[in-house]
Amino acid sequence: MSNSITAPQITVLDTGGQYTHLIARRVRQLGVYADVQPSDTPAAILRSRKGIIISGGPASVYEPGSPDIDPELLRVQTPVLGICYGHQLMAHHLGGKVQRGERGEYGIAHLTVTAPDALWNGVTHSQIWMSHRDTVQSVPEGFRVTAATESIGIAAMSAPERKLFGLQFHPEVAHTHAGTRILENFVFDVCKAVKDWDVSQRVPVIEEQIRAAAQDRNVFFFVSGGVDSTVAYTLCLRALGPERVYGTYVDTGLMRKSETDFVRDIFRQLGAAHFLVDEAEREFLSVLEGIFDPEQKRLAIGEQFVKVQERILATEHFLSGNWILGQGTIYPDTIESGGTAKADLIKTHHNRVAGIQALIDSGRIIEPLTSFYKDEVREIGRDIGVPARFLMRHPFPGPGLAIRCLCSEEEAALGATDDGFLLPVRSVGVQGDSRSYRNALALERTPSLEAVQKIAPELTNRRSDINRVVALCGSKAPLFEMRVFRAPLTKRRLDLLRDADAIVRQFSAEIGFEDMVWQFPVILLPLGTAQASESVVLRPINSVDGMTADVALMAPEHLEQLTRKLLALPAVAAVFYDLTNKPPGTIEWE
Ligand code: XMP
Repeated sequence: MSNSITAPQITVLDTGGQYTHLIARRVRQLGVYADVQPSDTPAAILRSRKGIIISGGPASVYEPGSPDIDPELLRVQTPVLGICYGHQLMAHHLGGKVQRGERGEYGIAHLTVTAPDALWNGVTHSQIWMSHRDTVQSVPEGFRVTAATESIGIAAMSAPERKLFGLQFHPEVAHTHAGTRILENFVFDVCKAVKDWDVSQRVPVIEEQIRAAAQDRNVFFFVSGGVDSTVAYTLCLRALGPERVYGTYVDTGLMRKSETDFVRDIFRQLGAAHFLVDEAEREFLSVLEGIFDPEQKRLAIGEQFVKVQERILATEHFLSGNWILGQGTIYPDTIESGGTAKADLIKTHHNRVAGIQALIDSGRIIEPLTSFYKDEVREIGRDIGVPARFLMRHPFPGPGLAIRCLCSEEEAALGATDDGFLLPVRSVGVQGDSRSYRNALALERTPSLEAVQKIAPELTNRRSDINRVVALCGSKAPLFEMRVFRAPLTKRRLDLLRDADAIVRQFSAEIGFEDMVWQFPVILLPLGTAQASESVVLRPINSVDGMTADVALMAPEHLEQLTRKLLALPAVAAVFYDLTNKPPGTIEWE
């Protein structure tokens, strides 16, 4: 939003923390325009600001080359709020003492205000979020300590007459209950900022930026059917008109049932004039033939995607000077900690397309959403008329159903153990800092899902041969009569998974479960009997960002109904419920 209509009243100085943009966003949510600038921006440039916030960051003030500020800022009477590293930097510059921490403190703590000033209006206690290694050991002359926690004496400090404030914790994150109030106190009571930022301004500002970047050129997108690329596409459509914006959707044959029709329908509703579907199912299935290993599958899909993109770029003449590329990159995609390592891998593949790289290198690219978080992208989407049923979709992995359709190179028997049956199919897990690839343990007779969820961690901790525990919900034969069959990835198996997935999705939408969970993968295992050789695993989870996840439990009567519907598919021998949190199990099985 650098070309904004409004000049920022508050500037957040970036010292490398992962929450820097979140701070600016919180201030904008208060109705005050705020931007982010490099930490060493000269005080002279910031003269017109009503307030400065120095962000947190991973460095220590004593490390050579650690991010610094212009010390003049602390003398000019512009209010300054230091957060975490910013607080330590303030103490360091003004003669206080910062203590190096060995282990640090990460998580929830409880704050008590001991000497209230303007920052604490309406706050006496709060749950807060700490994430730091170093702490301030003694405050600079003229400062006083204003709040403490159970483990830290100097959780906050201030010199109100000099308009300087420091907080060891993070007011910008939701875990700090009084965080919004504290920021509000700083922005309005201390800085005397006035409301000038209306979120409804966002869309016209972005559209203006798109027009400026595109000039007289047209824009094309590879749309995935995901929220980000669709919202970015729609913004371009509004800014430039439907004749100047093209979208190509690649049907890999690895998508959920009716997905292509759903996406086509959405784009029609959005007013797209040039929406192309590239039918690539045969190409993808043929490169996947004979591949059993999960990582090999991913790699083959990524490489095939690159080839398809190159073909489209060449045949549609998108590489000529009249065209620029639009992408749905959002803020978390641009920082290292954002997204998942695997998602990054897939993206890397896309970016390697020589044609796309050339467009990026020559600046022929528009990414209208790079300053926004996912929930802001949804809000923007809502403002520009993208249907809600589309915006609230669950995340879906790039390689699609290929990584939910487990394959087996050979036939194998189940192993009976004291704890349950060892399923001879392996799935991916995260244990410690590395990924594991191990068997799943199936429990046949289980009192309740809750009971299994409780004992699952004990089982995965104790048994080094498993990373996952599933409970049997229903089957056409007892587990001891079943085995794993040799099963490659075929269209027939993908179609079965598509059917099972569609049954689950529809039922889950009907009972309102779909809206209560973050994601609900359905997995196919080549496990069963000669008559019905496949099993379905239900994997509903809750999560904030996909990095960790908890199992979401379905009501027993609903689960019974759903199991019956799935067992009505002739090829399905059994239905299981995955009761493994992440860690130790990943959300997807592969
Ligand atoms: P895991 O299985 O690692 O998944 O716990 C975390 C989140 O990432 C999604 N996921 C992917 N997304 N390409 C993607 O675009 C991939 O290769 C991929 N693998 C996993 C997964 O659906 C979950 O939301």
